[in-house]
Amino acid sequence: MTAGSGDIEKAARVLRAGGLVALPTETVYGLGANAEDPGAVARTFEVKGRPPTHPLIVHIGGAEQLADWVADVPEEARVLAERFWPGPLTLVLRRGDRACTEATGGLDTVAVRVPAHPVARELLSVFGGGVTAPSANRFGSVSPTTADHVREELGGAVDFVLDGGPCLVGVESTIVDVSGGEPAVLRPGGVTREELEEALGRPVPVPGVSRVRVPGQHPSHYAPRARVVLVEPGQVAAEAERAREQGHRVGVLLPPALADAEVKAHTVVAVPASPAEYARDLYGFLREFDRRGCDLIVACPPADEGLGLAIANRLHRAAGPRPAAR
Ligand code: TXA
Ligand code: MG
Repeated sequence: MTAGSGDIEKAARVLRAGGLVALPTETVYGLGANAEDPGAVARTFEVKGRPPTHPLIVHIGGAEQLADWVADVPEEARVLAERFWPGPLTLVLRRGDRACTEATGGLDTVAVRVPAHPVARELLSVFGGGVTAPSANRFGSVSPTTADHVREELGGAVDFVLDGGPCLVGVESTIVDVSGGEPAVLRPGGVTREELEEALGRPVPVPGVSRVRVPGQHPSHYAPRARVVLVEPGQVAAEAERAREQGHRVGVLLPPALADAEVKAHTVVAVPASPAEYARDLYGFLREFDRRGCDLIVACPPADEGLGLAIANRLHRAAGPRPAAR
């Protein structure tokens, strides 16, 4: 059931009282707190089990409020805000005084975004201030794209859950550092690199992305319980078979090119051919493998183009080395 105006009023009251509200955004569900309330922001870190050194994104109601939160707005930040807000873009800028130190992790920059989801927009408008909102999941696990995902994972630790239906973008916002020097993508997401380059009229680097992938280069994040193994499309069937013979309960994310292939596994999910649909459904697929008891997922990262860059990034992060106790 999508939240009504009574729910939004209630959520705003909870935020004002220092509570935590799970809210829908177009990317993923966020765990919201008043960005100016150090106690409330500190609680988000506790509930997520997230190290305090990982700063949060401040969500605001409109680009016209940006100047309240940052020291200055360089021309290229203005261009990107005008072109992509409201929407799945986060800008990192030199910080102002308004966001509490807990939110910015002690950095001299702050991450800000104007979400597009109508429920998030309404909440920000009624609340009036800024809302810090990390993805509403335990640190390192798969981000939630429905209100049920949030309830399953964080349940009673959240004071109020606003249900806005399933998220339509499905992967997190693109984070662009525009705090000085050349703009650079810190995290690929719902706005593509190509769209950023078109808006700015120049190349925008994505540090860490190169054609050559070193397996296990990224520490694990966005990860389901099942281990994730990435292979070339030509190796999917053989890898799934090998893992099955070793006694694994295997899940396969079958790429569109292999839609007709015969792949034996416990659970086979055919990936949508449309990158937007793949991004929208990706986290739900990973959760589904866990729900079905798979302990190993075989997948192929798509090419680093358009939304494929964000999808490939999340798959690489899910496949990265895990801390011993998870
Ligand atoms: O789509 C999204 O961005 C979602 C929804 C809820 O808005 N939020 C989200 O938040 O993904 P979170 O906390 O899971 O990820 C925020 C990322 C972290 O990787 C953090 O390191 C980075 O933003 N970040 C925050 N402030 C930063 C800063 N000042 N400089 C560089 N990175 C920053
Ligand atoms: Mg997150």
